[in-house]
Amino acid sequence: MPEPEVLIFPTAEILAVATAQRIADVATAAASTHGTCLLALCGGSLPPHVYRLLAAPPLYSQMPWGSLSVIWADERYVPLDHSDSNYLLARQTLLDHVPIPSGQIFPVPTNQPIVAQAADVYTHQLRALLDRHAGRIDIVLLGMGPDGHIASLFPGYPALDAAQDQLAIAVTDAPKPPLTRISLTPAALNHAANVIFLVAGADKATKVRAALRDPYNPHTNPAQIVRPPTGQVTWMLDAAAAADLT
Ligand code: 6PG
Repeated sequence: MPEPEVLIFPTAEILAVATAQRIADVATAAASTHGTCLLALCGGSLPPHVYRLLAAPPLYSQMPWGSLSVIWADERYVPLDHSDSNYLLARQTLLDHVPIPSGQIFPVPTNQPIVAQAADVYTHQLRALLDRHAGRIDIVLLGMGPDGHIASLFPGYPALDAAQDQLAIAVTDAPKPPLTRISLTPAALNHAANVIFLVAGADKATKVRAALRDPYNPHTNPAQIVRPPTGQVTWMLDAAAAADLT
């Protein structure tokens, strides 16, 4: 497994521009090598800026939109048109503005009556998608909360121990609202060819250092569980989030 790469940018704005460019470059390379690019999006505060940059010039014309398939690293268990939905966030900032064929967009099926069912149905969809993409998620974009959670994998929560054959899992009683969520599992995240941790803000600095420098303990530092055997992990940080690294 290659060492994680750590890139530090002076401000969150510059970080967002660099992250959008990184996604465009990796997507372009994946599409030209494999003809397809499977991209996992997340929620949070900075990703919408990145999504808007991808949907606007100059990156709009670089992105291989027709080759892209889109999944979610995590979703809140709310209807897809709810203001808390990560799908809605991505639609408003990206998907409604770019020509990705609608059959290549795979939101978490939050219309299932039971959250565990939503996770099971998504697991089946993801397995089929992975089969079509040689077992590879080309890009997984992840934020990290001040408590160290990634996707909807929270410190100390049993979702961190999900079975290897489970690709999505229900999370109840999440410490960050909404309480009920669906997350990709560690096994799914470790199908990534490229993981981008996009983290900004001084409130994340302690957990960034812990994730990168502390001994392996994913129940304390969930980001440590993301170790794709053949994938590249890149931490893209603003100076405030990186402040404890030196
Ligand atoms: C979610 C997110 C979540 C997010 C982190 C960081 O749906 O809540 O996917 O995992 O990425 O909480 O969020 P911020 O960027 O807002 O700190």
